[in-house]
Amino acid sequence: MGRGSGFGKVILFGEHFVVHGVPGIVSAIDLTADAKVKKIGDGITIKDERRGAKGYTEKKRTQQKESIQRMLKTMGIDLEKAFLEIWLGGNLPGFSGIGASAASSVAIARAIAEELEMNLSDERINEIAYEAEKAYAGTPSGIDNSAATYGGLIWFRRNLSGGQNTIERLSIRQPVEIVIGSTRVVADTKEMVAGVAERKNENPEKYDPLFNQAEWLALEARKTLEDFDLRKVGRLMNENHGLLQQIEVSCKELDYLINLTREQGAFGAKLTGGGGGGCMVALTPGKELQEAVATAMEKEGFKVLRAKIGIQKI
Ligand code: MEV
Repeated sequence: MGRGSGFGKVILFGEHFVVHGVPGIVSAIDLTADAKVKKIGDGITIKDERRGAKGYTEKKRTQQKESIQRMLKTMGIDLEKAFLEIWLGGNLPGFSGIGASAASSVAIARAIAEELEMNLSDERINEIAYEAEKAYAGTPSGIDNSAATYGGLIWFRRNLSGGQNTIERLSIRQPVEIVIGSTRVVADTKEMVAGVAERKNENPEKYDPLFNQAEWLALEARKTLEDFDLRKVGRLMNENHGLLQQIEVSCKELDYLINLTREQGAFGAKLTGGGGGGCMVALTPGKELQEAVATAMEKEGFKVLRAKIGIQKI
């Protein structure tokens, strides 16, 4: 039996903008999708036992099937002759926005590679997961699969000419508590990414300045994270959410949760990932603030994850 894992993530700065070559900052979280693969059975079977938002697994099933086909093709495995039983689990829930699809692709690619005794580097796993991500995100930037493969805190810039993307590891003084809140709305990343591209194309007068601002914000955020000025990081996250609202990827559920966490004292909050539902992230340094914010959300019935950014070991 082959086994593999991939990390979940939160994008701290730059989702959507990153698809178009603006830099982004992503942190892996210490929750993983885990896969086991066995060479057995007839064709490809998938047993997805991840817990998650209601309807997540059902809504993503077609995309999941396509992603595994893309993955096998990229790995040079003949689809007609592949008999694989794939089991998917782990403690990363199936919520939109926290890299559940990329984490599962990395986990499955690693498990298949182990079962078929292919000795693949992390770079190769990352490339395979990127191909698989296309089924979920259409034209992904590569930020999610990079976080899922390598873990840690990453500065990412997509190379729009098809060359190597920039993937730099960032380090901060110490890990910082965050709260991730799920709106319970399952979002389609592919539609969200396509929508931004379409609006950007139709309305460059509005969108170009927003993209320039996102670039400035990412550069400022990198410096501020490295200086460990968490109050300012929070303010920059709020500004980033403002830009995401303007490119129309937020929604009322996300804005509600974001306001709630700010009222509870979060240093800053924004949507994370594709938006249109899915998850938000609040910066809540210290166990006490993290607990206060998380509890306030749970009291209103929202599902919450308590996590940390900047853990170097993962
Ligand atoms: C999704 O987690 C992040 C997006 O920017 C898409 C991508 O970068 O592939 C929306």
